[in-house]
Amino acid sequence: MVTNSVEFASALLKQGKLVAIPTETVYGLAADASQPEAIAQVFAAKGRPNNHPLIVHLADVAQIWDWGKNLSAKTKQHIEQLAHHFWPGPLTIIIKKADWVSSAITGGQDTVAIRIPNHPLTLAVLKNMPSGVVAPSANRFGRISPTLPEHVQKELGHKVAYILDGGSCSVGLESTILNLSGEQPVILRPGMVTQEQIAAVLNQPIATLQKQLKQNNEAIRAPGVLDSHYAPITPFFRITDQHLNTTDLINMLTTIFSKNKHSKIALIGHDKIAQSNSTVKYYSLSDKPEVFSQKIYHTLHTLDDAKLDYLFCFLDEKIVSKDSQWASVLDRLQKATLDAISIEQLKTGELEHV
Ligand code: TXA
Ligand code: MG
Repeated sequence: MVTNSVEFASALLKQGKLVAIPTETVYGLAADASQPEAIAQVFAAKGRPNNHPLIVHLADVAQIWDWGKNLSAKTKQHIEQLAHHFWPGPLTIIIKKADWVSSAITGGQDTVAIRIPNHPLTLAVLKNMPSGVVAPSANRFGRISPTLPEHVQKELGHKVAYILDGGSCSVGLESTILNLSGEQPVILRPGMVTQEQIAAVLNQPIATLQKQLKQNNEAIRAPGVLDSHYAPITPFFRITDQHLNTTDLINMLTTIFSKNKHSKIALIGHDKIAQSNSTVKYYSLSDKPEVFSQKIYHTLHTLDDAKLDYLFCFLDEKIVSKDSQWASVLDRLQKATLDAISIEQLKTGELEHV
C-alpha cells in the first residue's frame, strides 16, 4: 500500500515490519533498529550480504551520543559542528559504536553509521521511533536507488508492508558518508554535501577514500565502495570523446547504430540544444549538478524499463570541473556504467563483445 500516513508507518515499524520511507536523498527500506528479526528481513529483502552495514536514522542529534563510544572531545566537537550545518540533511557520519549496538546493524564492524534525514514525513516517523530505524536504499542489492514510490513498488513492492509516499526525492543521490572513527575525517562516499563544505566547517583538509587508496597503494575493505553498484540492467557506458559536442556525438551514434535498423539507444547528457532522433533518444538532464542529480536515477529507471539496446552518458569536462558537487554524480555514473568507451571503439564494433 502507498499513502502518506505517518502513524500507520510508525505502527508497522514497531510491529517489526518493513516500511519504505522517503528521504531527501533516496527512499529507504526501514526497520526498527531495536529489532534484530526486522533488521534480518532488510538484508533478505534486498538480497544484501550480512556483512554490509546499515545506516541508523535518528530524529535528533541529542540521540547520537548513546550510539557512540570513546568519542574524543575533538570528535564530539566535529559532530556538533557538522550537525549544526548539515542536519537534517544528506550527510552520514561514522563513529566508534557503543558496546550495546547490534552487530546485525554494523555488519560486525566496531563502527556505526548515523544520519538525520531531511524529509518532514520521515522526521515525523523517526520522532515516534526513539530507538531509531535502519534504512538502506530501498532497491535490490547493486541496483538503482529509488527516488519515487513507484520505483520501490516495482522492485520491492511485495516485500514491504507499506510505502510512505513522500513524493520525489529532492536531492536524488545517496548521502555523503564521512568516517569520523579514524585519526582524520575521511569521505567514504561523495554526496551533495561536498568535500569543500565539510573542510570549511571543520576548518581542516578532508581526505576522500579514493585519494587514500592511491596514497597507501593498498586495498582497504571499504563498505559502500563496491565497483558495480547503482546499475541498470541495460548495458550502460560513459563516452569519453571530450573534443565532440553533443550534437556531433548524436550524429555519430546515429550512423553507427542505424546500420542495424532495430537498434535503439539513449544518451544522457547536459547540452540543452541537442535533439533526439529515431535511433538515439537524447535526455538532457541539466548543466547544474543539483538538478542533474535529482533526475539521474529516475531517468535510469525509466530507460531501463524502456528495454533499449544500450545506454550512454556524456558529461562535458568543462562543465563538471567547475563545481565540486559534480563529484558525487561522476562517482555514481562510474559505478552504474560498465566502462568508458570512445566513438572509435564503437565504430570498430567493440560493443558486440559485451
Ligand atoms: O542517502 C542515504 O544514505 C540512503 C538513505 C535511505 O538514507 N541510505 C543509503 O544506505 O544509501 P545504503 O545502505 O544503501 O548505503 C549505505 C552505505 C553502505 O554502502 C554501507 O556499506 C555504508 O554505508 N556503511 C554503513 N555503515 C558503515 C560503517 N560502519 N562503516 C563503513 N561504511 C558503512
Ligand atoms: Mg544503496
